[in-house]
Amino acid sequence: MSNEHGNLIKNPKQLIIMVFASFFVPLIIILLLMVFVNNGKRGDSSETSEQLIKPVGQLNFKDASAPREPQTGEQVYKAVCASCHVSGAAGAPKFGDTGAWTARLGKGYDGLLTSVLKGKGAMPARGGASPADVSDYELGRAVVYLANSAGGKLAEPKAPAPAK
Ligand code: HEC
Repeated sequence: MSNEHGNLIKNPKQLIIMVFASFFVPLIIILLLMVFVNNGKRGDSSETSEQLIKPVGQLNFKDASAPREPQTGEQVYKAVCASCHVSGAAGAPKFGDTGAWTARLGKGYDGLLTSVLKGKGAMPARGGASPADVSDYELGRAVVYLANSAGGKLAEPKAPAPAK
């Protein structure tokens, strides 16, 4: 073997060790540097020890029964109704399509809202939304948003009195 001298890598096992070493040694150096830099910071930082030892992840629990801002008609429309009313799927009157809405607008707000609450034809009750996600009031706002996109002149429904 002519290159036996001065060559560290003599067999596959050593090759693997070298590859690992060339990967991990710099990594360890970087980690040590990071620890070093952080240690320097810790001395003069104003963080309390509580902040320093607090868990990395924090869960934010939300009280489901807490009152929340009612969604606007547009928000409900986009989240629930648009899937059918944009494309006119299953014969749904399209958003902004005055021709498709004129006859329906004659039912008035209450009539239209009843259709949405109970379902009509291919439209499931509440447009398929659960009452926990979308309240009657919010559905009403979506009806107004949708109807007024197509020539309707419905007034915004009144917000329900806050539950006690
Ligand atoms: C799964 C598809 C689908 C979804 C989701 C859907 N609709 Fe509809 N919608 C329809 C169809 C189909 C019709 C036509 C029903 C008919 O007249 O037979 C319709 C009709 C209506 C009408 C007219 C009802 C009437 O009495 O003429 C209103 C108002 C309406 N939709 C509002 C909404 C609102 C608001 C939402 C969201 C909360 C919604 N829709 C979600 C399919 C859907």
